[in-house]
Amino acid sequence: MSLRVVEHPLAKHLLAEIRDKNTPPSRFRQLTRSLTTLLVLDATRNAKVLHGTVETPLGTAGAERLAETLAVVPVLRAGLGMLESVVELFPDVAVGYIGLERNEDTAVARRYYSKIPDLAGKFCLCLDPMLATGGSATQAIGFMKMRGATRVSMVCVVAAPEGVAHLQANHPDVEIITAALDERLDPRRYIYPGLGDFGDRLYATP
Ligand code: PRP
Ligand code: URA
Repeated sequence: MSLRVVEHPLAKHLLAEIRDKNTPPSRFRQLTRSLTTLLVLDATRNAKVLHGTVETPLGTAGAERLAETLAVVPVLRAGLGMLESVVELFPDVAVGYIGLERNEDTAVARRYYSKIPDLAGKFCLCLDPMLATGGSATQAIGFMKMRGATRVSMVCVVAAPEGVAHLQANHPDVEIITAALDERLDPRRYIYPGLGDFGDRLYATP
C-alpha cells in the first residue's frame, strides 16, 4: 500500500525539535505525544462514520459518529511513548502490546512479550517510532494478523527507505504514516540522520 509523509508545518516543527541532540527526555516525551497526535489524526482520516443527528439547544443538526472499533498495538519499548496520544483521541480503543528488542549486532528483533486482543474487524494501528530495517514492524504486524487484523496502519516518526521497502514487501496492504523519510541506514543499521536511539532518549537510558 502507500507511504504517507505527513507534511503539516507543525509536524515538521515538532520533528526538528525531537531530532535535536540537545532535547532533554522531559521535552522528548512531550514532543512524542504531540507528534503522535498529528500522525494518528492522519492515519485515521478514512475511518468510517455513521450519519445521524444530534439535538443542539436550538434544533437538530446533522452528526457523524465513528462507526469503527479501533485497536492499537505499541511495540515496546519505544512505541509506548506514543500510546497515550491514541488513548486520549480514542478513549475506547482496544490496546495490545508486543515487546521486541533488536540484537545490537545483527539488528534482528526478538519477541519477549505479546498480549494482543482479538483484532478481527477492527481498524488497527501499530505504533513504533523508528522504522529502520523494518524487521520489528514486519514481525509486529505479522503477530497482529495472526490475531485477526485485516486493516492495519503503521505509524512511525522516522522511516528509512530500507524499512519502508521491507515492510511493503512483507505487508503490501499496510499503509505507513511517518513524519519523515530519511536518507538511509548507517553501518549499525540506525536511521541516518534520524534522531538516535528513540527508546534511550524517551526513557533516559544510556
Ligand atoms: C528500536 C525501535 C524499533 C526498532 C526499529 O527498538 O524502537 O522497535 O528498533 O528497528 P528495525 O526497523 O530495524 O527493526 P529497540 O529494539 O532498540 O528496542 P527499544 O524500543 O526497547 O529501545
Ligand atoms: N532504533 C532506534 O531507536 N533508532 C534507529 O535509528 C534505529 C532503530
